Amino acid sequence: MGKSKFKPYIIESLTITNAGSEGKCIARYDDKVVMIDHAVPGDVVRAKVTSSKKSFSFASLQQVLKPSADRIDTFCEHVGMCGGCKWQQMSYEAQLRYKQQQVQDAFERIGKFDFPPIEPIIGSTQQQFYRNKLEYTFTNKRWLTSLDGAAELTTAEHAGLGYHIPGRFDKVFDVNKCWLMDDLQNEIRNAIKSFCISNGYDFYNIYAKEGLMRGIILRRNEAGQWMLIVSFGREDNQRITELMSYINRQFPQITSLLYVINAKLNDTIHDLDIQVFAGDDHLVEKLENLKFKIGPKSFFQTNTMQTLTLYSKAREFAGLTGNENVYDLYTGVGTIALFVSKQARQVVGIEYIEGAISDAKINAQLNGITHTHFYAGDMKDVLSDELMVKHGKPDVIITDPPRAGMHEDVVKKIMESGASRVVYVSCNPATQARDIAWMQDKYLVTKTQPVDMFPHTHHVENITLLTLR
Ligand SMILES: C[S@@+](CC[C@H](N)C(=O)[O-])C[C@H]1O[C@@H](n2cnc3c(N)ncnc32)[C@H](O)[C@@H]1O
Repeated sequence: MGKSKFKPYIIESLTITNAGSEGKCIARYDDKVVMIDHAVPGDVVRAKVTSSKKSFSFASLQQVLKPSADRIDTFCEHVGMCGGCKWQQMSYEAQLRYKQQQVQDAFERIGKFDFPPIEPIIGSTQQQFYRNKLEYTFTNKRWLTSLDGAAELTTAEHAGLGYHIPGRFDKVFDVNKCWLMDDLQNEIRNAIKSFCISNGYDFYNIYAKEGLMRGIILRRNEAGQWMLIVSFGREDNQRITELMSYINRQFPQITSLLYVINAKLNDTIHDLDIQVFAGDDHLVEKLENLKFKIGPKSFFQTNTMQTLTLYSKAREFAGLTGNENVYDLYTGVGTIALFVSKQARQVVGIEYIEGAISDAKINAQLNGITHTHFYAGDMKDVLSDELMVKHGKPDVIITDPPRAGMHEDVVKKIMESGASRVVYVSCNPATQARDIAWMQDKYLVTKTQPVDMFPHTHHVENITLLTLR
């Protein structure tokens, strides 16, 4: 006999009690944890349970019966469909409270080490329009909330330029206004879409893998200069020139106007040649007195203002006097390494991606910094005894690993290095807590500072200072 199929059911009244580390809100019903999007702790809601496992189930919000004191009006017309800004129905103060709690919980429940009170989280100065980069995808069949009348829509009405529906690589909804990046990006995106529709350009069909218009990437620096990369699915010189010329005329703020022909099956452009249509092939961003060259393929933290806050805190925790040998692990394009270099005798930066290390070297040169050394490779291989013989043992280690945290071998090497201070910058308090627990015999948690880089999401950045016992 086959398994009985799960039947969705309604919970008439469900009290939301908490916000979970993955961004969903949490309630309890029938001895199970219920996870639900778009709710706020303190809400009483009507919910539909859509799937269920042994100890937890997923539900969708049907109606708010009694709003939480932390519930506020949402600002975005795409709420509910879009995967971004999922916490926008929660006041910013409450968002910060739950992010702070996330760090506290991870340290208590996963880390189980002693730690002094965590500093109050530093909120983002900008809570909207805070990003410096966005990517949009063209589709010839935009996602419709209701299929009523879809058959009657014209090709132009089906055309969209927007974001993927969460978890769906093949479904894109049309964006009219996004609040994540300066409003000019909305003007640019909507102008490109209108031009393409009016002039009969074909939008990408994800199933047939064809269509001229594939995507756009927008970047801006704090000085208000913009980079636009338009991705085309095939060569079509006339149409490409007409569109790019139109954009060039309309938007003088775009100082780096680029395009790429992408006939591959996936959307990534890192392995493709980028063409300069007008202006420079890069932007320059400034952090304090440092300049960073940002090419179309370069990584850069996406909330520039908060990056400055984050790096300044990390540098403060590092307690540099000018004599220290600093290792910056997971250095990306060398931003932290260069940011602390003025206060260090030497900085060694290590990063997996070769292109990022090339950018790091270029950025060091651009700023006339000669006492940094950058290496590309897997951290567990590059952070070796040989490296420490070559450059000397670190006095201070700054580490900023990806969400998965550090490999056990890397943690062991840090402990063997005898560095007197380790500044651990993390975008995932759970893996950070695990890694610190591994180090607790050798290192003492001295200070912890959460920073919010991504308002209206559950993400939290956390800096912890570990000192040698
Ligand atoms: C959270 S980012 C930090 C970037 C940088 N510190 C910054 O602020 O821009 C983590 C970095 O670790 C790199 N990375 C991931 N796994 C790695 C590994 N096994 N070895 C070395 N670097 C790795 C990623 O490419 C990424 O650049």
